[in-house]
Amino acid sequence: MAMTTRFLLLLVVLVLVVPLQLAAASAASGKKTTKKGDRRCHSGDKAALLAVKAALGNPYHFASWTPDTSCCDDWYDVDCDAATGRVVGLAVFQDANLTGAIPDAIAGLVHLQNLMLHHLPGISGPIPSAIAKLSNLSQLTISWTGVSGPVPSFLGSLTKLTLLDLSFNSLSGAIPASLGNLPNLAGINLSRNRLTGTIPPLLFSTKSWSSSSSSPDNNQQAYLWLSHNNLSGTIPAELAAVNFAHIDLSRNAFTGDATPILFSGAGVNSKQLQYVDLSRNGFSFNLSAVAAMPEQLYFMDVGHNAIYGGIPAQVANLTNLQFFNVSYNRLCGHIPDGGNMPRFDVFSFQHNKCLCGTPLPPCN
Ligand SMILES: *[C@@H]1O[C@H](CO)[C@@H](O)[C@H](O)[C@H]1NC(C)=O
Ligand SMILES: *[C@@H]1O[C@H](CO)[C@@H](O)[C@H](O)[C@H]1NC(C)=O
Ligand SMILES: *[C@@H]1O[C@H](CO)[C@@H](O)[C@H](O)[C@H]1NC(C)=O
Ligand SMILES: *[C@@H]1O[C@H](CO)[C@@H](O)[C@H](O)[C@H]1NC(C)=O
Ligand SMILES: *[C@@H]1O[C@H](CO)[C@@H](O)[C@H](O)[C@H]1NC(C)=O
Ligand SMILES: *[C@@H]1O[C@H](CO)[C@@H](O)[C@H](O)[C@H]1NC(C)=O
Ligand SMILES: *[C@@H]1O[C@H](CO)[C@@H](O)[C@H](O)[C@H]1NC(C)=O
Repeated sequence: MAMTTRFLLLLVVLVLVVPLQLAAASAASGKKTTKKGDRRCHSGDKAALLAVKAALGNPYHFASWTPDTSCCDDWYDVDCDAATGRVVGLAVFQDANLTGAIPDAIAGLVHLQNLMLHHLPGISGPIPSAIAKLSNLSQLTISWTGVSGPVPSFLGSLTKLTLLDLSFNSLSGAIPASLGNLPNLAGINLSRNRLTGTIPPLLFSTKSWSSSSSSPDNNQQAYLWLSHNNLSGTIPAELAAVNFAHIDLSRNAFTGDATPILFSGAGVNSKQLQYVDLSRNGFSFNLSAVAAMPEQLYFMDVGHNAIYGGIPAQVANLTNLQFFNVSYNRLCGHIPDGGNMPRFDVFSFQHNKCLCGTPLPPCN
């Protein structure tokens, strides 16, 4: 009897509740459709996007960009803010058929926060000053394109920029000092261009860097990639104050001492550096002078420089360290042993002045 009651109850539940839920679900999805339909495209944004399309010769890539549809709902590569309905993101990538210059019409997208032009080898010419009108830009990526000319100094007026990625282009000239004005910039990637000159001393200087380990949760960290250019000079002393997480200066013509940005001088290292590549430059400093290494370091390549002194014993204690390369330098003395040192073979240490001990031949 009790069983039957329970069965009947279950039946009631199935008959009454389930359809109710289905109804609720369909109501919700109906609402969603209505809301989506409401995300009409702002006429100014639509006009700007259509002008971008026209300037590029109405290529097939933008076939979905038609005047009678909503740029927020139906157009590829376009992202709108759900609340304001304004275009906040434009990401065009992976199309070798797109040719021409970056259209000035892009300046009409005044609410744009993220602009990405990636893997577009047919896009050429300089970075247009129209970009400077996009005052709300937070992330600007122009990478793997045929863009040439300078890294424009007007980028220094985009005060909301957090990430500037202009890697894998044909940019030349110097890194503009104006990038030091950007108070929110935390990532700069100018790798694989033809840049010359020195690192501006005030890069990252207007951002406040938390003093590391004291507040590891809300820490601010910097990412700097400048590899494969023709940059030279010494690393500005001012960069010692920046809390770098990743730094790649490889394959340039830098000289002098790199220790201040990498390692704190004292017995305890407060740096939170995880990745450092200084390889193939003209750096010359005493590696023994580095009393303490950054504990979170997992990648360190300083090969092909003129670094002297010895390898700090603490390297053996860096449990995260997965890649270590000091080859082709002027180092001497005992390679530390124990700890994680067995991870590294002869290719990590070869071609130095007088390094010895495992995995190299024993010291005399
Ligand atoms: C590029 O153009 C070629 C030849 O017209 C075409 O076959 C190809 O699909 C196009 N690629 C893209 C991504 O539109
Ligand atoms: C930038 O964004 C803010 C809100 O995020 C908005 O109030 C402002 O109008 C935008 N600026 C421009 C030029 O669109
Ligand atoms: C360039 O910058 C981006 C950040 O957008 C990063 O993810 C990427 O690894 C960098 N590329 C190189 C080659 O350093
Ligand atoms: C770098 O500069 C040097 C001297 O100015 C020049 O000889 C060399 O060709 C340049 N390298 C590249 C890759 O541009
Ligand atoms: C490198 O620094 C260490 C420790 O400060 C010092 O003992 C050593 O003499 C220096 N080596 C050279 C070649 O200057
Ligand atoms: C490495 O770690 C061991 C064990 O924690 C410690 O005794 C030693 O002093 C450390 N060596 C260096 C050079 O930090
Ligand atoms: C270290 O760098 C040298 C020179 O570029 C290279 O020959 C060697 O293979 C590298 N070592 C490792 C472990 O990758």
